[in-house]
Amino acid sequence: MALTFPASPPSLFLFFFFLLLFFSLSQAQVQTFTYVNEGEFGPYITENDADYRVLPPFSSPFQMCFYNTTPGEFYLALRMATRRSESTFRWVWRANPFSPVRDNATFSLRPDGDLVLANPDGKIVWSTNTANKGVVGLKIVPGGNIVLYDNKGKFVWQSFDHPTDTLLVGQSLRVSGPTELLSRNNGAYSLVLQSDGLYMYINNATTEPLLYGRLLDQATTSVEFVSEPDTDQAHTS
Ligand SMILES: *[C@@H]1O[C@H](CO)[C@@H](O)[C@H](O)[C@H]1NC(C)=O
Ligand SMILES: *[C@@H]1O[C@H](CO)[C@@H](O)[C@H](O)[C@H]1NC(C)=O
Repeated sequence: MALTFPASPPSLFLFFFFLLLFFSLSQAQVQTFTYVNEGEFGPYITENDADYRVLPPFSSPFQMCFYNTTPGEFYLALRMATRRSESTFRWVWRANPFSPVRDNATFSLRPDGDLVLANPDGKIVWSTNTANKGVVGLKIVPGGNIVLYDNKGKFVWQSFDHPTDTLLVGQSLRVSGPTELLSRNNGAYSLVLQSDGLYMYINNATTEPLLYGRLLDQATTSVEFVSEPDTDQAHTS
């Protein structure tokens, strides 16, 4: 009795060939990158007197940087400013607010679409958990939202859903989440949106968070940071 295969060897070969081609095409679609936290520090004065390294592809007024205020303890952050402005450069978002990374840490968009911050030993410190979710690239949209988008332009992940200690214009806290901002000093203070208002807490040690202020005391589902430019020029520049 002869064994029969559902497909003859040449068409099997073709099938695998197309499978391979498909995988290499779908992998190639992701605009991968890897940046290493190394090299000279930038020359400008920034908030907290931080040393920083700007990542090259992102342009002002929002730029991604590695910065540190303690040697060897870096944050991957978004910085806001223009060189023309007199104000200092401000850190408006951090990927790893309470878990600094070392020199030579890597920030990469991997072929599977996950955005990953890892120490030089390869240990992952932070990621967007977006592997195999259709991500094809990263961009910073006007307003300072860092987004991972798919091939239809839909946002698979956005930093506006993961605030740290700052709300940018157009960014919201929602009762359904994200609900809070945590202060830079290890989250000692928090601003929390609850269904009945917007509260400020001191998060000290082992005790319950201590309520010390209320910015809004009415039922609400979200609060958005809204700001209108002072001058007409701001609209056009
Ligand atoms: C970072 O990596 C480079 C190249 O491997 C190495 O020369 C350098 O010493 C490393 N820096 C630190 C602080 O480990
Ligand atoms: C808690 O409060 C005490 C007294 O004000 C202060 O010394 C301590 O540093 C605080 N701890 C934290 C974790 O903020």
